[in-house]
Amino acid sequence: MKRISLTRYLVEQQRLEGHIPSQLRLLLEVVARACKRISQAVNKGALGDVMGSADSENIQGEMQKKLDIIANEVLIEANEWGGHLAAMASEEMEGIYVVPNRYPQGEYLLMFDPLDGSSNIDVNVSIGTIFSVLHKPEGTGVSEQDFLQPGTQQVAAGYCVYGPQTTLVLTVGDGVTVFTLDREQGSFILTEENLRVPDDTREFAINMSNQRHWTEPVQRYINECLQGKDGPRGKDFNMRWVGSMVADVHRILTRGGVFMYPWDKREPEKPGKLRLMYEANPMSWLIEQAGGVATDGKQRIMDITPTKLHERVAVFMGSKNEVERVTSYQANGG
Ligand code: AHG
Ligand code: MN
Ligand code: MN
Repeated sequence: MKRISLTRYLVEQQRLEGHIPSQLRLLLEVVARACKRISQAVNKGALGDVMGSADSENIQGEMQKKLDIIANEVLIEANEWGGHLAAMASEEMEGIYVVPNRYPQGEYLLMFDPLDGSSNIDVNVSIGTIFSVLHKPEGTGVSEQDFLQPGTQQVAAGYCVYGPQTTLVLTVGDGVTVFTLDREQGSFILTEENLRVPDDTREFAINMSNQRHWTEPVQRYINECLQGKDGPRGKDFNMRWVGSMVADVHRILTRGGVFMYPWDKREPEKPGKLRLMYEANPMSWLIEQAGGVATDGKQRIMDITPTKLHERVAVFMGSKNEVERVTSYQANGG
């Protein structure tokens, strides 16, 4: 098998296809390097000082784990000096992080969920890093307003899942490419190109414990799946819920399925649990690039213009026919 490293892939994409400007190539290499470091920390587990809680809360009022903070710091330190970024934003920071004056300012903005699936860290279940890249709009300086662009404006998006393998999944708008970390060599190696999500599936992912809080259309969709062969769908469904969006979406990109985190009555003022800019948007773009669909139950997620950095959104993404079905139930109100 011909082994193509991430570096070679990016260089060749830049040279042959003109897809990847050099600053963006550097950015992606640096994010990948940071993910390798996070992967090492994750792997150490109880042998490193990475397990457990950090005794602090983030802006969303969630308890931070030590690894949330470590991963956030690794990403910032890796990215701030290269000259490719103007600013960064993260789940773990209230405001934006402007690249300090001592470093050159670049033309890109980077957003990330440094550690997705925090509740799985201490129980040795797959977790990951999700990221999204935007162009900084023209003009001097950089502000939070510059980040508030719809997902359609993303120039790169991806995630790294720290599971049985460490896998980096990437799009720059030309399909979805998968790289697997070769630990001996210390580099990401291309292992799959043009990932496709099947249009149909028999597998859904939702936190069933919230069932009583959902709206009627979501209840209807799941009830029909649960009735299996005997119900209107005429086929049995299987259910999977890892509790890490990266791992659930990775499974769906690999073999199909539908991932849902709908609005629910527990906190009615919140549109959903997941964050638009550094969870839903990058995952939506990857899913769309693989032939799937991603909506908030009413509209395409990537068309939403954000009004704040940590905005939340309801999420339905994955196999086309299932996402269209559950979205149509909501459009028709039942
Ligand atoms: P994070 O660890 O970054 O806060 O994200 C956790 C998210 C997402 O990864 C996952 O799908 C969902 O929360 C799990 O929610 P439940 O706890 O309701 O299962
Ligand atoms: Mn997350
Ligand atoms: Mn997180």
